[in-house]
Amino acid sequence: MGIIAPSILSADFTKLGEEIKNVEKAGADWIHIDVMDGQFVPTISYGSIIVKACKKVTNLPIDVHLMIEKPDHIIPEFINAGADFISVHAETCTHLHRTIQLIKNSNVKAGVALNPATSIESIKWIINDIDFLVVMSVNPGFGGQKFIKSSLEKIKNLKSLINKKGSKAIIQVDGGVGMSTIKTIAQAGAQSFVAGSAIFNTSNYKETISALKQKIIGM
Ligand code: DX5
Ligand code: ZN
Repeated sequence: MGIIAPSILSADFTKLGEEIKNVEKAGADWIHIDVMDGQFVPTISYGSIIVKACKKVTNLPIDVHLMIEKPDHIIPEFINAGADFISVHAETCTHLHRTIQLIKNSNVKAGVALNPATSIESIKWIINDIDFLVVMSVNPGFGGQKFIKSSLEKIKNLKSLINKKGSKAIIQVDGGVGMSTIKTIAQAGAQSFVAGSAIFNTSNYKETISALKQKIIGM
């Protein structure tokens, strides 16, 4: 399984609808939307209004990555806006189990993201409750950063934990995913690949997405 999820953070916002339609036509599987609050991460990006607008122009699942402190109060807004997947950061939720239930109770798939410095121990007891795990392979906040190599070992350890616990969660990797990194990331055990600059900074999305998929074929 190789799910390619273009992150619109690197899209051209003067023509966002067109950009989304173009990556859909080019073979994207999910649309990844990065929500930033200017607290948990240094900058502010966009909120549920953008999720709602994106939902209107695509049939692809909408994958909302919440980089916000204490997100519980605002999760219903993203559910109403049409999110199909919502990930929250383990670092931002005091009662992570409760937050996951809040998402799942609305039949939205729930994910938990871990910063590069966060141990996988933090999700050990909720791994059977979630649909996906997001390994941050950069420090969240910006597109176009360099892939942090220690993420590979983390993915492998998470994969073992998933197998040991009999969890159905899949592993998503976010940050620095591109032509030179995607294969080793897939080999380590990831199934969903977020790519922002590696897709939107190229001129032919179809060629780029096909080439990324080619690198992980059969894995
Ligand atoms: C980083 C975001 C990512 C970002 C990835 O905080 O969560 O989704 O858009 O960008 P690239 O693929 O350019 O590293
Ligand atoms: Zn993201």
